[in-house]
Amino acid sequence: MRINDSTIVERLKELGVELRPSVSLKEKTSLEIGGTTDELLLHRYGTIPEVMRLLADAKIPHRFLGGGTNVLISDGELPWVILHLPTAHPGMRVEGNSAFVDASADLGGMVTFCAKHDLGGMEGLIGVPGSVGGALRMNAGAYGTQIGPWVREVELYRAASGEVETVRGNDIRFDYRHTSFAPDDVMLRVKLELPSKPYKEILAGIKVCNEKRRASQPLNQKSAGCIFKNPPGGSAGRMIDELKLKDHRVGDAAVSDRHANFFVNLADATCDDMLRLIDDVRERVRAAYGVDLENEVIFWRN
Ligand code: EPU
Repeated sequence: MRINDSTIVERLKELGVELRPSVSLKEKTSLEIGGTTDELLLHRYGTIPEVMRLLADAKIPHRFLGGGTNVLISDGELPWVILHLPTAHPGMRVEGNSAFVDASADLGGMVTFCAKHDLGGMEGLIGVPGSVGGALRMNAGAYGTQIGPWVREVELYRAASGEVETVRGNDIRFDYRHTSFAPDDVMLRVKLELPSKPYKEILAGIKVCNEKRRASQPLNQKSAGCIFKNPPGGSAGRMIDELKLKDHRVGDAAVSDRHANFFVNLADATCDDMLRLIDDVRERVRAAYGVDLENEVIFWRN
């Protein structure tokens, strides 16, 4: 989608928004799949309500893209622009056992920053790729740790009210890879409350998680992490593996030979390749186990 109207382009500039025309989302996602659209870089959080009103009035559909690590996006010209929060110098500070972090910060960077201030509890999240905002929205988790229990407050832009609001942690439901945030809520900042722990102890925990992850996941291939949620009491990866589907391919999309719930882009996979592989594997699991696997990855289809 292109923003060509010079009045809108001018107004965006006045609001401090940087317009980057015709950006390939292949460069913005860990799967390296996705079409082309205009990108708006919001340099100041405070302008979000006004930018959103401007886009709504001009009938320009939009989506917020965070780290791009858990999303599968259609190919071709996309029917919405993408918005980005500033990622260059995200705010992070610690006060006692509280950490205040901008949603655009890198999740691993936040874990390390807190560790340096002797605040632990998030060691398991160290290798989870993506932004703090994405982790909040999905209640990211690994190795027995989820972000949800540490959250005390979230500042967000609520599209339903058109306002920036602060929501208390107790008023947010954090479930397995799911939260009660509305799909169009935009995470802005979080306040976490973390247990005190010596830096060295936290580092030791981080090392253990890193080793486990390196041993079982295809970290240097293009993927969006696990494709399916684990069904209650089961393991999607184990089921797919038991069906001997490692290396199973559609075009350049393949089931990883390392972890069967990771689907990788071997070279130039299209969104369609990946969707067909996902449907095929889901169908085979349904036929063999009677289990309907739910997507963990978010689809942005046009
Ligand atoms: N397994 C196999 N074959 C495989 C993969 C796994 O037999 O190809 C078996 C393992 O041997 C193990 C069991 O399945 O006995 C579970 O595997 P693993 O420990 O790798 O964990 P997982 O349930 O597959 C979950 C999360 C990961 C997270 C890890 C570590 C989901 C969908 N996945 O994977 O999160 O990193 O635990 O805590 O909940 C993600 O969210 O994208 C993600 C990768």
